[in-house]
Amino acid sequence: MQPSNFDLFADHEPVQQARAEQIGEQAWVLRGLALPQVDRLLPELDTVIAAAPLRHMVPPGGFSMSVGTSSCGRLGWVTDRRGYRYSSVDPHSGLPWPALPKVFADLARTAAEQAGFADFAADSCLINQYVPGAKMSLHQDKDEKAYAAPIVSLSLGLPAMFLFGGFERSDKCQRIPLLHGDMVIWGGVDRLRFHGVLPIKPGYHPRLGEQRINLTFRVAGSA
Ligand code: SIN
Ligand code: FE2
Repeated sequence: MQPSNFDLFADHEPVQQARAEQIGEQAWVLRGLALPQVDRLLPELDTVIAAAPLRHMVPPGGFSMSVGTSSCGRLGWVTDRRGYRYSSVDPHSGLPWPALPKVFADLARTAAEQAGFADFAADSCLINQYVPGAKMSLHQDKDEKAYAAPIVSLSLGLPAMFLFGGFERSDKCQRIPLLHGDMVIWGGVDRLRFHGVLPIKPGYHPRLGEQRINLTFRVAGSA
């Protein structure tokens, strides 16, 4: 499907109006939606990462992930040699994850609403840090208890090429450039689509330096 422009809430006057590109029946890119919030988001992100530092987790395959990962919210996604799951504590400190900052929760809710998903209340925010060369292989987000809620993604810093595929790993992928402030929402019939990120190209972002940070907001359910 080719991205198209579509004024989602023409009669409603939303708080912020982003340019919407449809990438699936129930999947959207909202260009620059987060830009007005960046000054409020970044200090909160620093506080979260100071309390729960980014780590290179080692999934069952045994190769350390190229992204550095942390979480905030009631649950955090973790992986180790044994598998993948959500945990209510940071396995490195044994402490609960930092709370989900209100500015994160509000932005995720607004994005979901603009993509047609009402009342999105994330209980988990996965933080992935990509330095140049880091990537995310094609995968489905399916460790959540239920799939009724969408995945809401926020990109900050260096650009990325996001791959948005089908329901089989081998399905053809759309290649979607994601820039600082862009948000992607996929849910409903598109909730289990394969997706990934090509290796980040070297560069320098004026706000974040030599890195890309992606936040994905999820409703993970009970751990
Ligand atoms: C993810 O699938 O968890 C990350 C997606 C992204 O970095 O854009
Ligand atoms: Fe994912």
